[in-house]
Amino acid sequence: MFCCVLFCVVLGVFSEPSVELGLNGKWRLSNSNGSVSVPAPVPGCVHTALMQQQYIQDPYFRFNDLSYRWIAHDNWTYMTSFNVSAQLRVKQKVLLVFDGVDTVATILFNGFMVGRTDNMFRRYDFSVSHLLRDGENVLKVVLVSPVLYAFKQSKAHSSYSVPPECPPDVQKGECHVNFIRKEQSSFSWDWGPSFPTLGLWKGIRLEAFDILQLIQFSSFPLYNHSSGQWRLQVELIIDADQTTSGQVELSLPELGSQETFQTRFTKGRTKYNFTLLINKSREVKLWWPNGHGSQPFYRLTIRGFQDQVLLLHTGSKVFFRTVELIQEQIGSSLGLSFYFRINGKPVFLKGSNWIPADAFQDRVDPSVLRNLLQSAVDANMNALRVWGGGVYEQDLFYDICDEMGLMVWQDFMFACAMYPTEDDFILTVREEVSQQVRRLKSHPSIIVWSGNNENEAALATNWFDIPASKRLSYVKDYVKLYVNNVREIVLEEDPSRPFLVSSPTNGAESEQEGWVAANPYDPLYGDVHFYSYTSDCWDWKTFPRTRFASEYGFQSWPSFSTLEPVSVEEDWSYDSKFSSHRQHHESGNQQMLQQAALHFQLPNSSHPLKRFTDTLYITQVMQAQCVKTQTEFYRRSQSEIIEGKGHTMGALYWQLNDIWQAPSWSSIEFGGKWKMLHYFAQNFFSSVLPVGFEDEDSLFVYAISDLSQDLQIRAVVKLYSWFGLGSLCTLTSDLTLIPGGVAAPIFKRPMSELLAGCGVCTRLTCLVSFHLEDDHGVQQGPTNEHFLCSPKDAQGLRRPNITAKVQEDESGFAVTLLSDAVAPFVWLDVGRVPGRFSSNGFLMVSGNRTVRFDAWRPSSVTELSRSLTITTLTDVY
Ligand SMILES: *[C@@H]1O[C@H](CO)[C@@H](O)[C@H](O)[C@H]1NC(C)=O
Ligand SMILES: *[C@@H]1O[C@H](CO)[C@@H](O)[C@H](O)[C@H]1NC(C)=O
Ligand SMILES: *[C@@H]1O[C@H](CO)[C@@H](O)[C@H](O)[C@H]1NC(C)=O
Ligand SMILES: *[C@@H]1O[C@H](CO)[C@@H](O)[C@H](O)[C@H]1NC(C)=O
Ligand SMILES: *[C@@H]1O[C@H](CO)[C@@H](O)[C@H](O)[C@H]1NC(C)=O
Ligand SMILES: *[C@@H]1O[C@H](CO)[C@@H](O)[C@H](O)[C@H]1NC(C)=O
Ligand SMILES: *[C@@H]1O[C@H](CO)[C@@H](O)[C@H](O)[C@H]1NC(C)=O
Ligand SMILES: *[C@@H]1O[C@H](CO)[C@@H](O)[C@H](O)[C@H]1NC(C)=O
Ligand SMILES: *[C@@H]1O[C@H](CO)[C@@H](O)[C@H](O)[C@H]1NC(C)=O
Repeated sequence: MFCCVLFCVVLGVFSEPSVELGLNGKWRLSNSNGSVSVPAPVPGCVHTALMQQQYIQDPYFRFNDLSYRWIAHDNWTYMTSFNVSAQLRVKQKVLLVFDGVDTVATILFNGFMVGRTDNMFRRYDFSVSHLLRDGENVLKVVLVSPVLYAFKQSKAHSSYSVPPECPPDVQKGECHVNFIRKEQSSFSWDWGPSFPTLGLWKGIRLEAFDILQLIQFSSFPLYNHSSGQWRLQVELIIDADQTTSGQVELSLPELGSQETFQTRFTKGRTKYNFTLLINKSREVKLWWPNGHGSQPFYRLTIRGFQDQVLLLHTGSKVFFRTVELIQEQIGSSLGLSFYFRINGKPVFLKGSNWIPADAFQDRVDPSVLRNLLQSAVDANMNALRVWGGGVYEQDLFYDICDEMGLMVWQDFMFACAMYPTEDDFILTVREEVSQQVRRLKSHPSIIVWSGNNENEAALATNWFDIPASKRLSYVKDYVKLYVNNVREIVLEEDPSRPFLVSSPTNGAESEQEGWVAANPYDPLYGDVHFYSYTSDCWDWKTFPRTRFASEYGFQSWPSFSTLEPVSVEEDWSYDSKFSSHRQHHESGNQQMLQQAALHFQLPNSSHPLKRFTDTLYITQVMQAQCVKTQTEFYRRSQSEIIEGKGHTMGALYWQLNDIWQAPSWSSIEFGGKWKMLHYFAQNFFSSVLPVGFEDEDSLFVYAISDLSQDLQIRAVVKLYSWFGLGSLCTLTSDLTLIPGGVAAPIFKRPMSELLAGCGVCTRLTCLVSFHLEDDHGVQQGPTNEHFLCSPKDAQGLRRPNITAKVQEDESGFAVTLLSDAVAPFVWLDVGRVPGRFSSNGFLMVSGNRTVRFDAWRPSSVTELSRSLTITTLTDVY
């Protein structure tokens, strides 16, 4: 791009349209009294800079979240100096661009204040042409303590309180996070530490130009149902130094579309919008969610000219798809449906909720993102909800979701709180929302915007004890922020996907009720978040038969290999100070054991470390089995309406990933290791799935299919005894037609008949395993099982002798297990060797099983054999 500058200038044709100077790299960082002064990378934050300089230890180590509280209570200054080329300096306009400042800062350029920032989620730019000088230029960013700022803002808001003041004590966090436009979970959450970061978390540069500069651009296709024609909506935000006329050329060569628009560029910052019609006789390849088709794209090129001189040149991928959120009457039942139709096809959303992958965003590199998102796809997920207490994710996150077919439910970043609505706050939020929507709306993966997390519910069910007399003013603030501002901007900016005000919400019904429904958890409308730790999770009758389950879950502990690097020996017991310090959910550690004790013997080894690791294991068994039961209930409720409830079309459990090494609802540990739940998700989200459950004293098996085509299928049900290997008897159903996108009963047998028919079986001595088979006898989907009693009551269950052999072949490692007895929840663990098994946590009812291990770095048979441990339910007591 810069190669012909001299040549062009000499010819007088044109000079470079724009020149850029990157300012990322090593800066200098110091605290307010100068006692700390260290080099610091940009992008980055204070905590990671101090860690890199070994000024502090790993902030995740033991109790360091408490030891390092002082960092966020201090003010910090980032400083750099640089020389500017003559070529840049002669430009008419020079912008100093910050893609992200965390959060409250004053910016000084050569000693002059050029601006302030107060919102982590905004891009900022400042005109600095008049401040540039020969030789050295100095740029300083003075960051104020976010904790102090939030406190001062809350005090300045004198008229009434905006709850909650502080997080619960168990979270060991900071107060008034709702007063600062910053990652809300950075002041602590019920799964995360308090590390209120400060820093320059995204890139910084100078952009210099003479005539015009492209600031932001987006494109999204719209489909006209009545004409059957696609059109591509392209928007450019351009900063022009003077008013001129020119042309904008859009081209989608693979679809034979190209058009040139005469344009008048007006001085200042302006949005331009163009429509490119796609020839109706062209076949447009559609983007589909994972499991429903592929994710093809087309290349769009955009060029801007003035008198044949190229002024801007950019391009992007374009994906074609439509999305509709259907809320309509279902037959004669009460309530409204709530499901997504992609390209006209109803799609059941299977997945989980995404939280920030690290407390320090600069550590979330491409490999971390790829690994987590690939793990989601490998567990047969097609959707993730980017939860509203974190951050709008980086571009790469959405690029990968586009590429993998992961649908994104995108929250705006407001969570579990009331928010202020004075003018300054609304103004910065408006800018945040329009920037984020413009940045993200080109991504087909995003299928819905949602205004906030749980704030409708917080108001409706009065989490913060707001007196009845004051309620109305909070409702007014709620409507002002999410309806009159966030929603208004989204509707104007993005007609290509639906908007919801909150999650959970009753959707259209909430709107009818003035945006805050009496009961936002109503199973007849919208989405539901549901948690119950005390009721028995094996009993599906305790779950709400909702239209859409966007949050539900159970906690577990991560494995020992994940905890070990951030702890010491005295921490390695379930009732250590460390174990309760890391638990940020009130009574969480007790709840896990109480739930586990309903069905399992609790670990009681006299060896302290074994007892600890066994306890970690049993919490994972409990979590996996609970979330499995609940998810299977939602999937099998897809095609039924019972007492008005049902037609469930989404199951997004809480939560996919972890922010640090601690107990939480996640299915993937910090560092990427799969918990037992994630292995279970692979099965319970598979496209074809048999689900077994008891109702009215009968055993039912449902067949569920997410395929596009019909299946002719039968259920094969086998009974096994806890006493010995091998099936006792086999029952099969008739072949049944299961259309794509349907869940239907395929097998039903009274329990008494089932047990008596198998001779020696009783509830306490037998268990059921089942799978689906097509008319050629080929198994479709995974094998599943149904326990007839709690394993703690099972008669005949004994400690098996399991031996394992690791082998290597062309395609990697295989582990072959031999067992001499029935073994439930067989768990293979290779400690700190990163990677994952093809299957884990499984039931062994035959004497052998081979699973593969996919190592994420080079390993060997020796290393794996040495690291491998095998645990089954009977090993813990
Ligand atoms: C300077 O600030 C640090 C960090 O806040 C503090 O620990 C130290 O005591 C201060 N030093 C002086 C001389 O005030
Ligand atoms: C940080 O800056 C704020 C605002 O300028 C000031 O009130 C506060 O005293 C400063 N804190 C420290 C530790 O210097
Ligand atoms: C920047 O300019 C100053 C003053 O002209 C000069 O001394 C210095 O060497 C320059 N630095 C670089 C990196 O060019
Ligand atoms: C959609 O197509 C119909 C029929 O051709 C046309 O009347 C209408 O203007 C089109 N709508 C848009 C938004 O282009
Ligand atoms: C649309 O495509 C068809 C077939 O490729 C072609 O014959 C026709 O001229 C195109 N129409 C336009 C308006 O480009
Ligand atoms: C783009 O321009 C068209 C035609 O001028 C207008 O109807 C539409 O509302 C604009 N869209 C946006 C998102 O500004
Ligand atoms: C366990 O099984 C292996 C191989 O099947 C055998 O060699 C070993 O002796 C058995 N161990 C016990 C304790 O029975
Ligand atoms: C594994 O079990 C199957 C039957 O379940 C048997 O056919 C096979 O021989 C066994 N393999 C080994 C290595 O024992
Ligand atoms: C642990 O519990 C089991 C089952 O109740 C019992 O048989 C065993 O003796 C106990 N072990 C210890 C070390 O207390």
